[in-house]
Amino acid sequence: MSDKTHQQKSRREFISTSLKAGIALSAMGSPLLAQGTATQTDLLFPEKPHPLNILILGGTSFLGPQQIAYALQRGHSISIFTRGKTQPTVQKEVFKKVEHLVGDRENNLEALKGRKWDAVIDNSGRRVKWTKATAELLKDNVGLYLYTSSTGVYYPYLGRDIDESTKLVLEVPDGISEIQKYEYDYGVMKANSEIEAQKAFGQDRTIIVRPTYMLGPGDKTNRFPYWPIRLNEGGRIMIPGKPGDQIQYADVRDVAQWMIRLIELSQTGTFNAVGPASPMTMPVFVHGAHAVFNSAVEFVQIRDYKLLAKHGILDQVPWIMPTDDNFGSALISNKKGIQNGLTFTPLAETVRDVFEWRVSDAEPEEATKRWEKTYQMYKTREAKALEDWAARHRD
Ligand SMILES: NC(=O)c1ccc[n+]([C@@H]2O[C@H](COP(=O)([O-])OP(=O)(O)OC[C@H]3O[C@@H](n4cnc5c(N)ncnc54)[C@H](OP(=O)(O)O)[C@@H]3O)[C@@H](O)[C@H]2O)c1
Repeated sequence: MSDKTHQQKSRREFISTSLKAGIALSAMGSPLLAQGTATQTDLLFPEKPHPLNILILGGTSFLGPQQIAYALQRGHSISIFTRGKTQPTVQKEVFKKVEHLVGDRENNLEALKGRKWDAVIDNSGRRVKWTKATAELLKDNVGLYLYTSSTGVYYPYLGRDIDESTKLVLEVPDGISEIQKYEYDYGVMKANSEIEAQKAFGQDRTIIVRPTYMLGPGDKTNRFPYWPIRLNEGGRIMIPGKPGDQIQYADVRDVAQWMIRLIELSQTGTFNAVGPASPMTMPVFVHGAHAVFNSAVEFVQIRDYKLLAKHGILDQVPWIMPTDDNFGSALISNKKGIQNGLTFTPLAETVRDVFEWRVSDAEPEEATKRWEKTYQMYKTREAKALEDWAARHRD
């Protein structure tokens, strides 16, 4: 691996020089940037990267297809490892250019044995033992391990200064509610998985990326697509929470592309993948998202947390109700990410693309039916909360 180590070292040197140059240029208001001939990312990352062989554990759901599309465009080769169950609903055309390895992270890693890659991206790490097993298996044959973690590692999100150095919870505490347990389980699993990846590959060969709520085409969570569909429909629309409530989100394509660029430069370390570029409140988010549509709307801000909770509205992603000293995952620092090349798609573009994907026939009929049911459930909840709010504010 001596050539590779040399390459990695020179790439690392490159980024540190380029970062300094990029920051200096942006501080001076680079004429290049002003003319729109090069973005800050172009200044940070080489136009023609050294071609790499990348293995993605996963690859066919939400984040994976965007990583593949971008990596192929950058001249890299991709292998994916899945059970062969999930069919992509975005970037479908790229899959014919990808090597598909079949197995199961639970009990069958045969297809990964004896193979070499420059880097592996672990998207499907949903159990600590899965990440431990693949990191152990691949450590001598693969250069870098990128673990797709989550800002969920910061649960219960105490304080306003959450950054990559914040101490993580590594065990689920006793005596907590079912909801808290669910949140802790996910965060603790991600935090311990990060540790397993680092143990096997070492800090200098591991990249940890912690995305916040990701939005974009292909989002099967049925959470965020509510907003574009609802805003297009128009009428009386609830904005949940207090006017100053902050929100955070990241366009899935921004996260996917940044991950590939971090790999190209062997930029190891731990990074939050959080947007938008500057702090945003929920009303600003909703008004910004509505700019994509020409529907007639009347926005009603329901600032009463108790009323919202009575109607089961504890979140409406990207809004999460703050409780006590838990600021609902919306105050996480993106400073390090930005310094290391994270960029942001404009909100209107994200909203438009999610809308177009959601109204297309990209998903199988059954999944579309599930989405429609969820949408109606959200709308009923919203209508009841609006009615209750209006009744309390009638003179
Ligand atoms: N969505 C968000 O807002 C968000 C926020 C923060 C972090 N994250 C993290 O982002 C990651 C990205 O998830 P994604 O679903 O978008 O990734 P993806 O790489 O697009 O898809 C996940 C893949 O995992 C495969 N898979 C599932 N179980 C498997 C198993 N037992 N063995 C082998 N393959 C298996 C699925 O294919 P088969 O079903 O065919 O096996 C699918 O290809 C996750 O780790 C998630 O925790 C998500």
